[in-house]
Amino acid sequence: MKTISRYVLCIAFLCSLAFLPAFAAPKYVIGMSQCNLGEPWRVQMNADVKAEADKHPEIQVIFKDAQNDVLQQRAQVEEFVDAKINLLIISPKEAQPLAEPVSKAMAAGIPVIVLDRDIIGQNYSEFIGADNVKIGRAVGKWLVANYGGKRARLVEIMGLQTSTPGQDRHNGFLDAIKGSDLNVIFRADAKWLEPDARKEMESALARFDKIDIVYGHNDPSAHGAYLAAQAAGREKEMVFVGIDSLPQEGVAYVKQGILTATFQYPTGGDIAIKQALKIFGGQKVEKRIVLGSRMFTKDNVDAGGEAIQ
Ligand code: FRU
Repeated sequence: MKTISRYVLCIAFLCSLAFLPAFAAPKYVIGMSQCNLGEPWRVQMNADVKAEADKHPEIQVIFKDAQNDVLQQRAQVEEFVDAKINLLIISPKEAQPLAEPVSKAMAAGIPVIVLDRDIIGQNYSEFIGADNVKIGRAVGKWLVANYGGKRARLVEIMGLQTSTPGQDRHNGFLDAIKGSDLNVIFRADAKWLEPDARKEMESALARFDKIDIVYGHNDPSAHGAYLAAQAAGREKEMVFVGIDSLPQEGVAYVKQGILTATFQYPTGGDIAIKQALKIFGGQKVEKRIVLGSRMFTKDNVDAGGEAIQ
């Protein structure tokens, strides 16, 4: 009897060993190439990727941060390709320089999901992001509706103009204010960075003794501009509008009265993982997924903002 139970135990132990690797080792490795983790919005994107990935034990995500350096991001993508990952998710810093390493990944048979900023040539499996032309246009329309007819003087603190959201948020905005009396008196590329936005705003404040509106292409830019105006004792003279709407950032600024409005830019991190799973399952995915956006002002912020049409 003893020998039989020992025998059964032994078989059970060997069986568990045989099954262990199947549970412990993930089936798919995803490389996540993040251009920069210096801003809360990108930290949120990685957190969204991780939270969704954590629901699926069959996948493992390896994160790399390029620290806002294009060469580093190119090298990191190449490292992922050499490591033969199963899928690449990339949020590229700039449209042109990241196109080549992404093409190399595709040529190596690694599917690529591009998140938020697009790349030239669009050689990837899928792009996921909100419509930045539409968001820029919504900012412009809202400003014309609220400040048109007052010959308002406006400062535009732009996002990196070699990245697609910076170009699109500018173009959509210009399109919407065309024919209005909103007058852009100062415009600068602050590269998405709050300290740069603050410096650019200091120049604007030094040159113009009356500014009515500041449009920042992201909430850190609008906030940097606000800090510059505040340091000059002039923040009450103008309104500040930004884009991103993180609950702990832009939306909180609206609640505090620092920003008059913020327009949401969802990270898409969770969707990227859902789409990756579809690709692993052999499903065909769309070339482009366009995420919706909302706007928040002090009047609607407690009700969760309103959708942008
Ligand atoms: C973060 C960020 C966001 C912005 C996005 C555009 O790096 O600047 O604030 O909405 O990138 O790609």
